[in-house]
Amino acid sequence: MKQLEKTIKYDALDDIDFSEEERLLVAAAKEATQGSYSPYSHFSVGAAVLLDNGVVVKGANQENGAYPSGLCAERTALFAAGANYPGNKVLAIAIAAYTEGDFLKDPITPCGSCAQVMAETESRAGQPMKIILYGSRCSYRLSGVSSILPFAFSLK
Ligand code: THU
Repeated sequence: MKQLEKTIKYDALDDIDFSEEERLLVAAAKEATQGSYSPYSHFSVGAAVLLDNGVVVKGANQENGAYPSGLCAERTALFAAGANYPGNKVLAIAIAAYTEGDFLKDPITPCGSCAQVMAETESRAGQPMKIILYGSRCSYRLSGVSSILPFAFSLK
C-alpha cells in the first residue's frame, strides 16, 4: 500500500489585491446576482465567466417550484458561455453571493455538480481556469479546478 497526498494552494485576498481584470470580473459576478431568481432560498448567486476573446458571460441561480429543476449560477454562466461561444476558451470564473441585503463576508464555493462542469470546461480549454470566490471580508483565488475537485470524473 502507498499513501498518496494532494495539496491545495490558494490565495486569500483583500479587494485591493485584485488585478484590474480580476476586479472587473468580480464586479460582473456581483452584478450578476441581480439576475438571480431565488424566491425559495432568497440566496442570490452570481457568476461571471471570462473568455479568451475578452467577453464576460454572466449567470445567476435560477430556482423552480420543482426544486431539482433549478440551476446554480456557475452552470448557468458556463453553459451560456458554451452555447454562445463554443469556440472560445474559458480563462476565469468569479462567483459572488448575496443574501439578506448584503454580499457574503466569506466566499462560497461551487457545489460538486458545478465543480464537475468546471472540470470539463477546463479540459476543453486545455489550460487551468482561474477561480475567484468573492467575499466582502476576504476572497479566495485558485488556479485550476483540481483545487476544488481533486478527483473530478473524466471519461478519458
Ligand atoms: N447555488 C448556486 O447558484 N451556486 C452555488 O455555488 C451554491 C448554491 C444556489 C442554488 C440555490 O438556488 C441557492 O443557491 C441555495 O442553495
